[in-house]
Amino acid sequence: MLPEAERARWLQRVEAQLEAALPRTTLEPTRLHAAMRHAVLGGGKRLRPLLVYAAGAATGADESRLDAPAAAVELIHAFSLVHDDLPAMDDDDLRRGQPTVHVAFDEATAILAGDALQSLAFELLAAAHADASLRVAWLATLAQATGAAGMCGGQALDMAATGQRLEPAALQQVHALKTGALIRASVRMGALAGHADAATLARLDDYAAALGLAFQIRDDLLDIEGDSAQLGKSTGKDQAQEKSTYPSLLGMDGARTELARQSQRITDALANLPGADALRTLGHFAAQRSH
Ligand code: IPE
Ligand code: IPE
Ligand code: MG
Ligand code: MG
Ligand code: MG
Repeated sequence: MLPEAERARWLQRVEAQLEAALPRTTLEPTRLHAAMRHAVLGGGKRLRPLLVYAAGAATGADESRLDAPAAAVELIHAFSLVHDDLPAMDDDDLRRGQPTVHVAFDEATAILAGDALQSLAFELLAAAHADASLRVAWLATLAQATGAAGMCGGQALDMAATGQRLEPAALQQVHALKTGALIRASVRMGALAGHADAATLARLDDYAAALGLAFQIRDDLLDIEGDSAQLGKSTGKDQAQEKSTYPSLLGMDGARTELARQSQRITDALANLPGADALRTLGHFAAQRSH
């Protein structure tokens, strides 16, 4: 179990980091700064930061070491959402229960806010209170997970797959990159802070890969059967836009079967791993969530 007190403490830590790292709206360019804050603050489940703290807890990392990677991955995630919602991509106007950044501001500001959030993430890691070797390992992990071999590459595949019928292995690859890469990076950065050995890193990576897939399959299911108010974003968009998703390829039951398979993989990857309770709870949440 992830006790409520622990979850609340981790959320509070990452919130404080994000608040302090984001530029003030009293400074120029105020509109850009306001858009960055709109994208990051006041919403979101903060799953990726929680995974950083949970992986750190499982590997004995000092909690204060985890603040920078926790905030950094959330900044990258927020950047990915701002750009994902743009008219050129998914064209969404609701995110985290608020107007998307390009609706609340304008498209140019949304593009620039995403860009600036990305560089702020790497700035935070570079300036973190940690050994240079750990900072470089975090930077390499997060950069790779963000770029063409990770989230951006996955988003490119997602756009190219729109209106297409992919093979299951190809769809799995889209999900593994667009969503899985940042989730794997979150777990890896936490475990790197705990100086985990190679075998533990590999097991945690298997856990994170399964969690990333489960999380996106659940996202695909919720787009069909979820509640927009609870999700804080529009539903029914994937079908309207002919997105390649697990339900579109395998049907609802097929998608649920694959989700169950990934849930089992999450459980198996953590078997006999001491200190993995928080990771286990987050794994269950990812697969079963309704928001
Ligand atoms: C939404 O991510 C985009 C996906 C990768 C499915 P989240 O569901 O984690 O969004 P927030 O951060 O809670 O708003
Ligand atoms: C988003 O996938 C993945 C990234 C933002 C990288 P979706 O397009 O399905 O996410 P939602 O449904 O808009 O949150
Ligand atoms: Mg998308
Ligand atoms: Mg989207
Ligand atoms: Mg979605």
